[in-house]
Amino acid sequence: MDARQLKIEAARVALGRVENGMRLGIGTGSTADEFVRLLAEKVESGFEVKGVPTSERTAGLCVELGVPLFSLEELPELDLTIDGTDEVDAALRLIKGGGGALLREKIVAAASKRMIVIADESKVVDTLGAFALPIEINKFGMTATHRALDKAAVRLGLGGDINLRMDGTVPFETDGGHFIFDASFSLIPDAEALSDALHAIPGVVEHGMFLGVACEAIIAGPSGIKIMNNKGSQQI
Ligand code: A5P
Repeated sequence: MDARQLKIEAARVALGRVENGMRLGIGTGSTADEFVRLLAEKVESGFEVKGVPTSERTAGLCVELGVPLFSLEELPELDLTIDGTDEVDAALRLIKGGGGALLREKIVAAASKRMIVIADESKVVDTLGAFALPIEINKFGMTATHRALDKAAVRLGLGGDINLRMDGTVPFETDGGHFIFDASFSLIPDAEALSDALHAIPGVVEHGMFLGVACEAIIAGPSGIKIMNNKGSQQI
């Protein structure tokens, strides 16, 4: 089974968690795209859902495939969000934002009663940090913010480069008009302490660690689906 097939399998199980009429946050990335494709097929056969996209990219795909969309202004409380992830650990802590949508993803997930993560098993880690942590920053004072990030990293004993994400020759810009620093810490032993330190830096808009947000992870591997939740993990 190739990587795309695994993403489809995880998305298929997640679709089974979506009930008719739900207000649904819809994530961003290649795994979330597979979920949108399956959801669109179900919508075409009469299933009703009110989708709130986490990015312009996801909005575009939903419109193309006929998934009904609403803004978070119209639906500020959601029943469920389904999204991909760049990393997930056993406590369902996540690193997200590889696709640059972390801020809207976090706002939408926080507005949802439940967030379910879908991924292939390559995303499961013992400790967060091998994936460079995306940190969304305000453009104003970005050099000062960079220095503040460096200092916070040193204070927490974290090494590695913190690089401005580029889109060709220009900085990558998020849907919210911000820039992203990718922090290659390699290992984040205390995600909560790092989260607090990042939130204390005024130029930081948000970071890609989702701590205490997801309630379930649906992980697809060659030997089947693993469900991770607060009771542990179980193969189905
Ligand atoms: C988008 O900003 C990200 O948070 C994605 O959800 C995450 O990068 C997972 O993407 P893939 O499913 O493409 O790996």
